[in-house]
Amino acid sequence: MSKSIIELQTLENQQILTITPPERGLSLQGTLQIPGDKSISHRALMLGAIAEGETIIEGLLLGEDPRSTADCFRAMGAKISPLNSQKVTVQGIGLGQLQEPSDVLNAGNSGTTMRLMLGLLASHPDRLFCVTGDGSLRSRPMSRVIKPLQTMGAQILGRNNNSLAPLAVKGQTLKPIHYHSPIASAQVKSCILLAGLMTEGQTTVTEPALSRDHSERMLQAFGATLDIDPTTHSVTITGYPKLTGQKVIVPGDISSAAFWLVAASIVEGGELLVENVGINPTRTGILEALEMMGANISLENERVITGEPVADLRVKSCQLKACTIEGEILPRLIDEVPILAVAALFAQGTTIIKDAAELRVKESDRLAVIASQLNKMGANITELPDGLEITGGNPLNGAEVDSCGDHRIAMSLAIAALTAKGKTIINGAEAAAISYPEFVQSLQAIAG
Ligand code: S3P
Repeated sequence: MSKSIIELQTLENQQILTITPPERGLSLQGTLQIPGDKSISHRALMLGAIAEGETIIEGLLLGEDPRSTADCFRAMGAKISPLNSQKVTVQGIGLGQLQEPSDVLNAGNSGTTMRLMLGLLASHPDRLFCVTGDGSLRSRPMSRVIKPLQTMGAQILGRNNNSLAPLAVKGQTLKPIHYHSPIASAQVKSCILLAGLMTEGQTTVTEPALSRDHSERMLQAFGATLDIDPTTHSVTITGYPKLTGQKVIVPGDISSAAFWLVAASIVEGGELLVENVGINPTRTGILEALEMMGANISLENERVITGEPVADLRVKSCQLKACTIEGEILPRLIDEVPILAVAALFAQGTTIIKDAAELRVKESDRLAVIASQLNKMGANITELPDGLEITGGNPLNGAEVDSCGDHRIAMSLAIAALTAKGKTIINGAEAAAISYPEFVQSLQAIAG
């Protein structure tokens, strides 16, 4: 029965997702397994590649972004088993041993692949690396990592005054710096820390607010020496550690769980159990925001798996209320703003999201795109320079909308469509495979 409600049509490389809720409304019930955390998956592949010995990764995200990372590191000599089973092995080649690739490295759609990798490439003396990505990635700012790397002595050339890919990197012996990053960005922090691995002495990054700390946790697990000062949001790495391959169990991605948390909250009578969700405190801003909105979410079976806290999340529908989301919470829910905007459409009052200008340089300009696409469905969203103003309560109508090539937009629109009157057509639905290849199948399984 769910097939007629949720249909996926594939035309060459494009997918069109059609969602037609029944007039009486649909039901949303069940238990879900979500794919592995994207950030942790990238880091496990990268650290596995540069460590000595074997790394076994269980629960790796088999999405397009980690595939880009795996392909890049294979091209530089790491042996990585095919990404077709949840257990992937990486034969590390050792610190400083990345080989000069015979072709351009392609990071695809993945900002994490490109920015983190740049720290490693810049610190491999005498080797030349060329790095590119898809149209979206080639328009995203790389100067945020190139500038501090240049201060360390890196040689990087790129378009637009060395700020846009394609980039050419001539590896150098770098010198340590203390970098005060103007933005709270885990990609910037991680890039500098990875460059610090091959830099004599101590390299420090200080960020204005705490961003996700998966790099710090995993670097320590692989044997690196880190000094972390939580009061100043500073991390110091000491160069040339011995990195040893590890077993990494990747928890489910809270950014993927977020779609179900909001779906069950807004669909009348909805109840879902989302299992095995990573609840690292640097990622749980979405839980805090939904709690502020009055959502009914409980954490069950809390445990720690290879250094990362994990829980099962039970969510039941309820009336949400508007709230203001601003300040230090933003880096901890940065990828969840599009789906939070959907939640806010069902909240009583006007929700304000501020301090979110970073959203403009993600896989798409997420502030512009989420506002324009949801407004086509009858939403009342006003774009602010650094956020959104969302007035809840307007009933949504089915419409033809577009992911604009952005995975999180595609999935957020699908969740909004569950509550709309009539048919919603989502063009560019194939983008979901970047972080959640089984999204549509899971949606079909729980929506009836
Ligand atoms: C990521 C960090 C975040 C996030 C991205 C993944 C990471 O980007 O938006 O999806 O894995 O380090 P920024 O560091 O640019 O905020």
